[in-house]
Amino acid sequence: MTAKAPRIGVVGSSNVDLVTYVGRMPVWGETIAAPRFEMNHGGKGANQAVAAAKLGAAVVMVSKVGDDMLGDGVLRNFEETKVSTRHVQCVPGQSTGTATILVNASGDNCILIVKGANGDLTPADLERAGEELKTCDLILTQLEVPLESVYATIAFGKRHGVKTALNPAPALPNLDLERIRDANFITPNETELAILTGMPVESEDEIAAAARSLVAEGLETVIVTLGARGSLVATPQGLRRVAPVKVQAVDSTGAGDAFIGSFARYFASGLGLDAALDKATRYAADSVTRRGAQKSFATEAEFEAFCAGLAKTD
Ligand code: RIB
Repeated sequence: MTAKAPRIGVVGSSNVDLVTYVGRMPVWGETIAAPRFEMNHGGKGANQAVAAAKLGAAVVMVSKVGDDMLGDGVLRNFEETKVSTRHVQCVPGQSTGTATILVNASGDNCILIVKGANGDLTPADLERAGEELKTCDLILTQLEVPLESVYATIAFGKRHGVKTALNPAPALPNLDLERIRDANFITPNETELAILTGMPVESEDEIAAAARSLVAEGLETVIVTLGARGSLVATPQGLRRVAPVKVQAVDSTGAGDAFIGSFARYFASGLGLDAALDKATRYAADSVTRRGAQKSFATEAEFEAFCAGLAKTD
């Protein structure tokens, strides 16, 4: 008998990524040539949805696109990756969200986003998708949509007994801790952790103290993603450090989303916290070995092959 696919809800953004691979950054007023440009599907919400779907989850996406040519492409991409588009609406007169991304030779990036239609996602849109979201095992949300919709998603999960995970990215100074406390998981990176807590995060001890402070505030599970250094998990039971998987990074764009989308898929299918985190660490590591966000995410079969390769080198 085949196991039922885990059901993941995502209330979040859909972007088109305009990615330029640079040898070096230009300075203001300077024009330089860069070696490569790509236009890819992105957006933190869409990336997390596609990661979970590529790994076999049934994904309900609640999102908005503009009525431009980019929006049509986003919808087609969801259809191709088997993410449900029933609750992805097109906003007349609005542009689709875009992200202008510069990636350097070490695979690090900086990103400038224009929210476009993502800025029009309201709590009413979430309620319209309520019947489907209620049947999910886990709902993911991030900060590329209006904060009221993020708070409403967490409150919805609490009200209907569906677990929620908040990826507090990109970092915002005005997040209301009171209104995110009911999220079952929060997954900041170091910068986001510093902004959320107002605490320093220079050393491992400082990161641990900041993560613990969020648990003390009532957040159930704090997962701090540390890029090539792995992650750190804080719960009321204590701290655990998750070791990284070492790979040659080409492009880290979307690695955090690969981590969260795959974590959601494995946690929702019944793996415990630790096992789901180990899977997510491997999935995100694999994704940075290829260019782009969603297009760097492995299918389940590709991911199994990657893990088998790692087992041989252990
Ligand atoms: O997390 C990576 C994503 O951030 C990119 O795909 C880009 O769209 C921005 O939203």
